Amino acid sequence: MWDHVQWTEEDKENARQRIEENSCTQIPLKEQGKFDTDACQYWDKFYGRHQDKFFKDRNWLFLEFPELLPPGAKSEVTNRCQSDQQAVLTTAVPEKDDAATQTATFPGQHASFRILEVGCGVGNSVFPIINTIKEKDAFLYCCDFSPRAIQLVKDHPDYDDSVCHAFVHDVCEENTSMPFPPRSLDVILTVFVLSSIHPNRIQGVVNRLSTYLKHGGIFLFRDHGRYDFSQVRFKKGRCLSENFYTRGDGTCVYFFTKEEVHDLFSNAGLEEVQNLEDRRLQVNRREKVAMHRVWMQSKYRKLYPPSAP
Ligand SMILES: C[S@@+](CC[C@H](N)C(=O)[O-])C[C@H]1O[C@@H](n2cnc3c(N)ncnc32)[C@H](O)[C@@H]1O
Repeated sequence: MWDHVQWTEEDKENARQRIEENSCTQIPLKEQGKFDTDACQYWDKFYGRHQDKFFKDRNWLFLEFPELLPPGAKSEVTNRCQSDQQAVLTTAVPEKDDAATQTATFPGQHASFRILEVGCGVGNSVFPIINTIKEKDAFLYCCDFSPRAIQLVKDHPDYDDSVCHAFVHDVCEENTSMPFPPRSLDVILTVFVLSSIHPNRIQGVVNRLSTYLKHGGIFLFRDHGRYDFSQVRFKKGRCLSENFYTRGDGTCVYFFTKEEVHDLFSNAGLEEVQNLEDRRLQVNRREKVAMHRVWMQSKYRKLYPPSAP
């Protein structure tokens, strides 16, 4: 694997051509509805088949996203990682009118640092986070719309309901609320999740989720980028709309550009802290295949309201 790989004009042209070919015929509109309405069932079956064996633990998590560390854990882990100096700059200051302090009881109410992971799957980020925030006055919420995935999280030996609350929740549902009040979160994390949602719904999802961030809180996003190998290798007949595809198992994937990511979070009223394309070259020597990987990595902060004169 090589990091920060520059693409040649030829690489770009090859990718562009292959995507043009694999998306020249789209699945007819009348056959597309099920991929949106039954998305939860497709993912639930996915976890029925693969259990917790498909995704790997996100071991890069604290290196790339030191903002996940509660104040008490920051120096400890950042020293270990020798990582991003921004780590120390990222905590939301508790607000005087913090809604969390004014409403009825909810899990994690007494923690001073609260994280939500959306689309947590079987917990490949959840358990590294739980094991880091224990005894740090922090609390993790994690949700997924697949009941099987959430059950696997709860059955894991490291699941601990004194620091974590896992629940089934579909973030595309407009009229359901989260088990905590608005403006109560320091961090929201989505890892390869927004890409699995229909592109017409993603903006609404980000808007709604952002209402749960405290002022100064941060949205952390990692996902598929445009021209990634996994987009290029799609066969004809899997494309739903531009840069949006369905896999053989019915789950879907969208491939983002930097500009789209920027618009998505800015439209939700958040301010850019980081928005980058992570480009790498992976080589499978046995099969003699070179794969250009493109991932988006972004951080957007909820601003404080302008103070009254
Ligand atoms: C590619 S998997 C990533 C899982 C996990 N974040 C990880 O990094 O291993 C996408 C996850 O998003 C979940 N998901 C997709 N759409 C969702 C929605 N509308 N509401 C909640 N979860 C959703 C799926 O069930 C699946 O677990």
